[in-house]
Amino acid sequence: MRFGIGLRAGVAIAAMGLGLGACATVPADTTDTGVASAPVADTEEAVVADFVSRMSLERKIAQLIQPQINSFTPEDMQRYRFGSYLNGGNGGPYGDEYAPASEWLRYADEMYDASVQPLPGGEPVVPTMWGTDAVHGHTNVVGATIFPHNIALGAAGDADLVRRIGQATAVEIEVTGIDWNFSPTVAVAQDDRWGRTYESYSENPELVATLGAALVEGLQGNPANADFLGTGRVIATAKHFFGDGGTDNGVDQGEVTGDLAELMEIHAYPYPATIEAGVEAVMASFNSINGRKMHGNEDLLTGVLRDQMGFDGLVVGDWNGHGQVAGCTVTDCAQSLLAGLDIYMVPDDWKALMETLVAQVQDGTIPMSRVDEAVTRVLRVKYRAGLLGDAAQRPSERGVGGRYDLLASPEHRAIAREAVARSQVILKNDGVLPLASGANVLVAGAAADNIGQAAGGWTLTWQGGRELERDLFPNATSIWEGLESAIEGSGGSATLSEDGSFTQRPDVAVVVFGERPYAEFAGDRPDLVFRDEEGLELLRSFQAQDIPTVAVFLSGRPMWMNRELNAADAFVASWLPGSEGAGVADILTGAREATGRLSFTWPATCEGEPLNSADGALFPLGYGRSLSETTSLGDLSEDCAALMVGPSREMFGSGRLGEGVTAAVGAGALPNLLGSEGGVTARGFDRNAQEDSRQITMAAGSQLTLSQDEDSGGAYRITYEVLGRPSAPVTLSTGGTTVDLTPHFAHAVEKGWREMVITEECAGTLGESITFATEGNISFRIAEVARTDLPEGTGCSF
Ligand code: BGC
Ligand code: BGC
Repeated sequence: MRFGIGLRAGVAIAAMGLGLGACATVPADTTDTGVASAPVADTEEAVVADFVSRMSLERKIAQLIQPQINSFTPEDMQRYRFGSYLNGGNGGPYGDEYAPASEWLRYADEMYDASVQPLPGGEPVVPTMWGTDAVHGHTNVVGATIFPHNIALGAAGDADLVRRIGQATAVEIEVTGIDWNFSPTVAVAQDDRWGRTYESYSENPELVATLGAALVEGLQGNPANADFLGTGRVIATAKHFFGDGGTDNGVDQGEVTGDLAELMEIHAYPYPATIEAGVEAVMASFNSINGRKMHGNEDLLTGVLRDQMGFDGLVVGDWNGHGQVAGCTVTDCAQSLLAGLDIYMVPDDWKALMETLVAQVQDGTIPMSRVDEAVTRVLRVKYRAGLLGDAAQRPSERGVGGRYDLLASPEHRAIAREAVARSQVILKNDGVLPLASGANVLVAGAAADNIGQAAGGWTLTWQGGRELERDLFPNATSIWEGLESAIEGSGGSATLSEDGSFTQRPDVAVVVFGERPYAEFAGDRPDLVFRDEEGLELLRSFQAQDIPTVAVFLSGRPMWMNRELNAADAFVASWLPGSEGAGVADILTGAREATGRLSFTWPATCEGEPLNSADGALFPLGYGRSLSETTSLGDLSEDCAALMVGPSREMFGSGRLGEGVTAAVGAGALPNLLGSEGGVTARGFDRNAQEDSRQITMAAGSQLTLSQDEDSGGAYRITYEVLGRPSAPVTLSTGGTTVDLTPHFAHAVEKGWREMVITEECAGTLGESITFATEGNISFRIAEVARTDLPEGTGCSF
């Protein structure tokens, strides 16, 4: 236990009491020295200072470097002693993203052991720590409890529930040997077109502050209690500081503009509350504020976060976020450290960055005092987490390390089910809910029995996906399964029929449909139109047959749903519930009262503007019906200019395959154009943003085909880069014609990114697919493949 918190909390409360506008005027009397007057903090600071005083420059810098797993070996860990490492959303131990929990723990032990081998000359040994994105449960690991995403928890609106979720998540993380969670996201999303809206509890800063602080307390424990960061607790991270939810047009990692004090009142608002709750880490945001990237913004990272808010934990960067600072590259960025960043998240290029930093300290670009300060912050957090000194333990020997029975334990699943039930928001109900007991219910829609879709992004893979196989969710109940058992348990009958067909006419149909999973920028949208019409068609077809319907809408944000609302007798915003589909059934069958209320304004128009304001609201903040409220909603306008613009015809872009697009290789396929199959290997590559492109290696004789399920027409536009001169013919075929790419690829080598346009001029009739084939080994990258209408007669270009 430590007592530094008394002071920190006092300051944070003062800052909040003054209102955030006033934050800027809170005197900077909250320095680390203030904290040092408490007795435990005394010991803490003395221990940490002793460590720092005995460390070599190289080992100090290593504390500030965070590579991702699989980019280094245990030998690298032993040699360089990284202060921490992470698994990204697409990374699992030993290269296996679906590795069993025991492999995660084995990996944690192996890296821990490598990090604590004795050092020559009595240099102190500092154990490494492992960070992960357990943003809605420990969902990188197969078999863990999958809690609803934050937007749903905002609708449930209960801090105690969020605290319990935090604790359950921390226990599951510790089971697998991991120390640190990159959560909670305390973004205050202001534009629902943003792809991370679902990671935001609410558009309302106060609700975000309350729930964010509750999650911190659940993850870490209460700093005033003896179990703080003890058994079943892990380090939390408030992210992303700050402005992530305030970018222009909701563009991920974009630009935030406006009066600083006003921006802070919204986007910095949750931080004092999480600091008061004892959060040990804050992650810097990718966005810029008024033209300056947060990763290089000393006024905000140091002036506001440290000096005004009194944060004394560590500031970690986001995925190569330092590389986006003006004048920086991923491997050269003194600016970030100087601005107040303590740990560089540098997934792959850690070696070069370390070397640059060491040289920059040696040549005086970076003062040693700043290095010592950053290392002190990292070690301070390690001390609090029990990692410094004799009491430090191997991951498998800690509290619940290796207790695999705690992954998705009945207690944890019960919390998740409660969270699901309490987050369902009923927007319309003409009386069809609750479902009558004894009813014959048809459950339709491809999402009804699809846990990957119900879980959303950050589930097993970074982007999540509806193609994730059912057996990857061993401890889960789909919405269909939950409904089936509830309905049959109360004497009714339930039938699953994805396409809505039936032999026996049902009394009522439940249609489950919604957004396909996405994460980060891949989820950015130009408007709030939901273009997938599967659900709409099902609802309309039941409506035409006079069968009452309940729409269950899975989404990461409110969307313009007037068409579906008109076609349904009841409409439930179900968000992204996760592994406990039974919680949805609890509400539909009336086993629980519906208490979920919107934490985001529901839009009346489809453009996405005006943003989250009462003027543009179909349903205001706080709206949600109880089961007995059946007043008529009336007919809603279905006018939407944006609907006239066809769906995007991108086949690959922003790091993902377009809707209805597949990547085939030989007899197999590469889901989302990732993986290795039939001689083709496709890995994520960072062009402008993380994994927004693919690096593709094709072995001699292999083929790769991208196809649309419906031919959208138009020329093919391909953004590509060739990595080596082809040694044998390379071709591209479409619609029965084959174009020889060999000379063009040879010419493109080392010319950087280029655009290839394939029109009917050189390829004749274009088909719905393109096939790359090669007779030798080749390697190239693709950032975008799209279909575009071009003026007739436009020639091909390469
Ligand atoms: C990685 C994810 C990571 C993300 C950050 C991706 O390239 O696969 O794990 O979280 O980048 O944006
Ligand atoms: C995301 C962070 C995440 C990190 C590590 C980044 O791209 O913005 O939220 O913690 O990747 O996966």
